[in-house]
Amino acid sequence: MLIKKPDDIRPSEITPESVYLNRRQFMRGLLGGAALAASGTALALPKPEFDGDLPVYPGPDWLQAQLRAGERNTELSTDEAPAPYQHAIRHNNFYEFGTRKTDPSRNAQQFVTDPWSVEIGGEVGKPGTYPLEDLLKPYRLEERIVRLRCVEAWSMVIPFVGIPLADLLKRVQPNSRARYVEFTTLHDPQQMPGQRSVFSTLDWPYVEGLRIDEAMHPLSFLAVGMYGNALPPQNGAPLRLVVPWKYGFKWVKSIVKIRLVEQMPNTTWNRAAPDEYGFYANVNPAVDHPRWSQATERRLPSSLFQPNIIDTQPFNGYGEQVAHLYRDLDLTKWF
Ligand code: MTE
Repeated sequence: MLIKKPDDIRPSEITPESVYLNRRQFMRGLLGGAALAASGTALALPKPEFDGDLPVYPGPDWLQAQLRAGERNTELSTDEAPAPYQHAIRHNNFYEFGTRKTDPSRNAQQFVTDPWSVEIGGEVGKPGTYPLEDLLKPYRLEERIVRLRCVEAWSMVIPFVGIPLADLLKRVQPNSRARYVEFTTLHDPQQMPGQRSVFSTLDWPYVEGLRIDEAMHPLSFLAVGMYGNALPPQNGAPLRLVVPWKYGFKWVKSIVKIRLVEQMPNTTWNRAAPDEYGFYANVNPAVDHPRWSQATERRLPSSLFQPNIIDTQPFNGYGEQVAHLYRDLDLTKWF
């Protein structure tokens, strides 16, 4: 099975940006524009609220309390408009819950994401299995509005909430043999229909990885929320990776294991089709996917009449921050 490049968004699914943006403007009014604009100011993160039956995911009590104390990291946020909330929760890739864009939002609603523990091991001084609540306790959550660019050539702007990955890694004390970080999604075929499907050609569980310097970069982020609430199950609750300069398949969801290792991890998509999905997967308009161009992307929401095609930027527009990591690497070979 290969990642498809679908044209599956019906114009009827798309609601004007004003729904989400009006809400934000309302919150700005409440909180004062200056408070929102200033980095480091504690505030209740703006949450989407809609008429109708759109689900929001408050998460467990301890997470709600931390979300309330969250703050926006304006320095590491784009000022582009976030996708309307309903779009971000209904256009998903999460093959454990099916291969169509609407499958995860349909099939993941009963997915149990609390309580949740994460096993951290390998080349670290403090290995252990940590309840998620304990892992997050020391941190003030931050919101980062980032661009998600899928290898299928669509993209979305999403306000994620979480912590810098480096903060967590430093706490478990990586040793000098820790050259890569490997992340593993939950393996639970009972809950995840895609993992028990006879048609699936992916090896489960889903595994992704980063080089240690990539993992320690300030843009690498572990998300526990989005749009001011907990992560919806279809978006990778309760814990997912956010690496905005890399294609979306690196943004592994529902993480249960983090291992610091010496060898480059054998990652899921790279194993499935090594000539199509490299380990690095840095967004690169100059290196096409063997079956389609990566020069442009469809920024969602889009429609037949307003396809909203934009040029893809090297490193998804984060080149200034991350290009130096790859100074000595031939990016056509290490795609
Ligand atoms: N993580 C797991 N475990 N399983 C997946 O199928 N899909 C990836 C990534 N993380 C995937 C995953 C891909 S291809 C993309 S583009 C993003 O999740 C999509 O994230 P979103 O559904 O929150 O937009």
